[in-house]
Amino acid sequence: MRHFTSVKQLGNLEEAFAKAKYVKENPFADQALGRNKTLLMIFFNSSLRTRLSTQKAALNLGMNVIVLDVNQGAWKLETERGVIMDGDKPEHLLEAIPVMGCYCDAIGVRSFARFESKEADYNEVILNQFIQYSGKPVFSMEAATRHPLQTFADMITIEEFKKTAKPKIVMTWAPHPKALPQAVPNSFAEGINLTDYEFVITHPKGYELDEAFVGNARVEYDQDKALAGADFVYAKNWAAYNDADYGKVLNMDRSWTVTTEKMALTNNAYFMHCLPVRRNMIVSDDVIESPQSIVIPEAANRVVSAQTVLKEILLGL
Ligand code: CP
Repeated sequence: MRHFTSVKQLGNLEEAFAKAKYVKENPFADQALGRNKTLLMIFFNSSLRTRLSTQKAALNLGMNVIVLDVNQGAWKLETERGVIMDGDKPEHLLEAIPVMGCYCDAIGVRSFARFESKEADYNEVILNQFIQYSGKPVFSMEAATRHPLQTFADMITIEEFKKTAKPKIVMTWAPHPKALPQAVPNSFAEGINLTDYEFVITHPKGYELDEAFVGNARVEYDQDKALAGADFVYAKNWAAYNDADYGKVLNMDRSWTVTTEKMALTNNAYFMHCLPVRRNMIVSDDVIESPQSIVIPEAANRVVSAQTVLKEILLGL
């Protein structure tokens, strides 16, 4: 594997799950693979899980790790080409990226959608510049349109917990006070569309996702109908995608919060969320603390997903 920006690059899913299982059961078996190799992790945005789990994955593989928070301690970076740099940004990304590439063997990048331009976000301008100019393998630690390491962890978790071959997965929008990118729901939809599971997406009108990600999922605007018989409930907020409202919060309708009453409609479903989660906006205290909540094993699998992907990148060096 050279770059990793989408779960589609995992290739054969059964093989990917088998590799992940091996990594989970033998976390230190490939220490020699990463010896004298350096991972550089670049954060344009905050993180808890991705930062810690990806570092842990690299350490398990014997790698050295450097972490750079672009907005804390580095020069402020200009990202637009053609700008007259007479403002507060002394360095351009187009020099910074190849310089960063000189100091490492692989680069992880976190760069969220900025909601300034739908075109720039959906063309993954920042992530693609790292791919184009760093000279090194690049993997997404959540970019503007996808969060593939999260999705791979989600899919591993579903594999581990599912009780039937083709579970019903419901991804539900839930309210949130701030505008959040579509990367997690896009990526989750992309991943579940690679399986033969029953897949339903539910959200209020106006929150339609890019059809390229929705794929074969059934869209149901009635959340209660969508939840009926679900085996897994994957909750997430996202801001509007449509051209007129791109990046906007259209409502904070708390009747969409995942509560005990909502979960009672399901087939005793497991509750999932990528975290961080706002309690009693996205999900009630009772649901996230219930035995059916698998948000912690889901987060733990972030190490497994990152290590499986990093191992493939190291094998490709
Ligand atoms: N789920 C996830 O990516 O968490 P962080 O934003 O804390 O990394």
